Amino acid sequence: MARRILIIDGHPDASAERYVHALSAAYRDGARAAGHEVRGIVVSELAFGLLRSGEDFHSGTPSEVIRACQQDLLWAEHVVILFPLWLGSMPALLKGFFEQLLRPGFAFSAASRPGLQHKLLRGRSARIIVTMGMPALFYRWYLRAHSLKSLERNVLRFCGLRPIRACVIGAVESIGPAGRGNWLARINSLGSKAR
Ligand SMILES: Cc1cc2nc3c(=O)[nH]c(=O)nc-3n(C[C@H](O)[C@H](O)[C@H](O)COP(=O)(O)O)c2cc1C
Repeated sequence: MARRILIIDGHPDASAERYVHALSAAYRDGARAAGHEVRGIVVSELAFGLLRSGEDFHSGTPSEVIRACQQDLLWAEHVVILFPLWLGSMPALLKGFFEQLLRPGFAFSAASRPGLQHKLLRGRSARIIVTMGMPALFYRWYLRAHSLKSLERNVLRFCGLRPIRACVIGAVESIGPAGRGNWLARINSLGSKAR
């Protein structure tokens, strides 16, 4: 069954050489070839400022750029988020984008009591694809995939997205063209399955 897929390319560097962009294109091409509808957000191309106050978060009006991205998110049934690991976490630009995008009233409702927020983005699944210099096993087992879990639990699941699946692509600087090509093929195949 054809699905509506939103791909969020969260690499701050727009340079075509960045591997994350190739992975994003591989997912998109696989999905389109299989008949899925795809929209894309390239965070490095968006003009937005950093959120600076709780007041703005709760009652400010997001900019037109952010509102358009919110519409894309509402449209989507499946959301794919790609980014490189920077200093152990998602790049600040992507975090800044999520702070602008996932506001109360849009992504979750304000709580009457702590812990009682309603998840407003239910009915959507997600796939996170993260690249990094360290080996994937080291990140998963020694560092316990801390930042990945934080994105899954504190951000996406909190807003109602599920299931959430992830690809951890480690040692990207040393796996060589064959290793990178293998991953591109796997991501292309995930795109065709909209998973
Ligand atoms: C600012 C910066 C911080 C980075 N921090 C980490 C890190 O904490 N852990 C890690 O394994 N790799 C780190 N790396 C390596 C990147 O994750 C890696 O170069 C990237 O995933 C490669 O994908 P790309 O070609 O799309 O940039 C860092 C790279 C940069 C530029």
